[in-house]
Amino acid sequence: MSDVALLNRTLAIEVARVTEAAALAAYKLAGRGDEKAADQAAVDAMRRAFDKLEIDGTVVIGEGERDEAPMLFIGEKVGTGRGPKVDIALDPLEGTTLTAKSMPGAMAVVALAVGGTLLHAPDVYMDKIAIGGGYPAGVVDLDADPADNIAALAKAKGVRAEQITACILDRPRHEKIIAAVRKTGAAVRLITDGDVAGVIDTAEAHTGVDIYIGQGGAPEGVLAAAALRCIGGQIQGRLVFKTDDERMRAERLGLKDLTRKYTTAEMASGDVIFASTGVTTGSMLTGVLDTAHHLTTETVVMRSATGTVRWIKTRHPKLA
Ligand code: FBP
Repeated sequence: MSDVALLNRTLAIEVARVTEAAALAAYKLAGRGDEKAADQAAVDAMRRAFDKLEIDGTVVIGEGERDEAPMLFIGEKVGTGRGPKVDIALDPLEGTTLTAKSMPGAMAVVALAVGGTLLHAPDVYMDKIAIGGGYPAGVVDLDADPADNIAALAKAKGVRAEQITACILDRPRHEKIIAAVRKTGAAVRLITDGDVAGVIDTAEAHTGVDIYIGQGGAPEGVLAAAALRCIGGQIQGRLVFKTDDERMRAERLGLKDLTRKYTTAEMASGDVIFASTGVTTGSMLTGVLDTAHHLTTETVVMRSATGTVRWIKTRHPKLA
């Protein structure tokens, strides 16, 4: 059976229920100042929702290793066991702090891919650079200076550097990158969290973001690569190891060359479905809307096989 048939169209709709469940559960704890509780609620709800999905799924990017995560751990089997064999990358709550502080941009995220096609990235940092679709491969490069990347992108886009906006996580570790980008005349959009959306924003013209640069989570890098496989765009990433334990974790996951620079297709090589539901309103999605009798969610579902992007708005009756 072909990859396209494997990741069938029905699944692309069904997966929305999984991210919706996680987002609704996390939303209940938005603004309560408790990151762990919000994350746990999203994990529990996502785990339960997976039980109804007709897949033979294996979590490859999850909540951690078996000994540290009771649920949705790397290697856990999810789904009914019937249906296509899929790799699953998930982040039940991307933006735990955003949720705890009721700030914009928290979302629940899942990617389903043909078995064996997602990079098994450990929970370490990743250096990343990403741009949207329509540019020649390698127009920007992870190993080039930020100034050269801005200049190359501006040239490819046919604009001045001043017309480029770079999205960067607001962290002390990015001070040099931020200064170097600003020196070119380009604008910097700082985000406090949520670099899955930061990367995806480069592929969506309405966001005004042209390039994402900086270090964030490696799991988030793979999830963002899955989305770019669907909507176009390029991401390069390299894992960053701070301790021997982190290196050992990567080796346990089967990674051989720990210094390798991964491209989009090396992080997500097969057919993939990406789905995300907003918890709080951000650049990508409207968050959960709470009215008298309903909770309304907005979910985006993307398919690499067809390049289709669907926004699903769902009204969930409040149960008495
Ligand atoms: P969490 O939801 O797990 O807190 O992740 C949020 C996030 O901002 C990611 O989007 C990003 O990749 C990572 O944290 C950055 O890590 P750090 O906060 O350590 O700089």
